[in-house]
Amino acid sequence: MKDAIRLDKILANSGFGSRKDIKKLVRTGVVAVNDQAAKDSSIHVSPIKDIITVNGVQVIYKEFVYLMLNKPEGYISATEDLREPTVIELVPEEFSHYDLFPVGRLDKDTVGLLLLTNDGKLAHNLLAPKKHVPKKYFAKIDGTVTENHVRLFSEGVTIDDGYKTKPAELKIVSAGDISEVELVITEGKFHQVKRMFQAFNMEVTFLKRTEFGPLLLDENLEPGEMRELTEQEISLLK
Ligand code: URA
Repeated sequence: MKDAIRLDKILANSGFGSRKDIKKLVRTGVVAVNDQAAKDSSIHVSPIKDIITVNGVQVIYKEFVYLMLNKPEGYISATEDLREPTVIELVPEEFSHYDLFPVGRLDKDTVGLLLLTNDGKLAHNLLAPKKHVPKKYFAKIDGTVTENHVRLFSEGVTIDDGYKTKPAELKIVSAGDISEVELVITEGKFHQVKRMFQAFNMEVTFLKRTEFGPLLLDENLEPGEMRELTEQEISLLK
């Protein structure tokens, strides 16, 4: 965290409105830095060393937030879209002043674990192909998945554009006309899971991400709900 930051940035991140709102707020004399009323919202203060209060209540500054979303169907993994609802529309009011974005993408019809953050560096690291961050999915497949598929997935699957995926760990949960599987992949090609099954003429009819790197989907989250990561989850991610 940088040592000195503009007071209005700190207050904006803590939910006190836009820069304009904060300028007005500061003018009313209710904002204090180390017990001295602040005169100007553009002054630089240290969010660590200085004590900032609004109406006597201390402001706790958080530069980054990390939210685990249980993504529901019907939302796209983007920050804005003219036609489709985006996962950002699910963000509760208390976090709406952070510039959150989804870390990677789940298809509109895919459900489950999606991380939202404003920490670009962390997101970049998690998505870097070289990092091979594992992602685990539960899927329902129209077709019978066999041990032969398990072996073939473990060797990598050549998908429609000729790309051969990295080895993937496929586990059969139940096999029949409709099969249920778990799959761990370490890449994030567009529609990767669907295309891997398509290579065997099988269709994914349900897809849920249950793990992302060290994070496990919190099953207490209803579809559409999100919660902040715990300190422990954040340090595991880093
Ligand atoms: N693979 C897919 O096909 N879709 C997703 O949403 C994620 C992985």
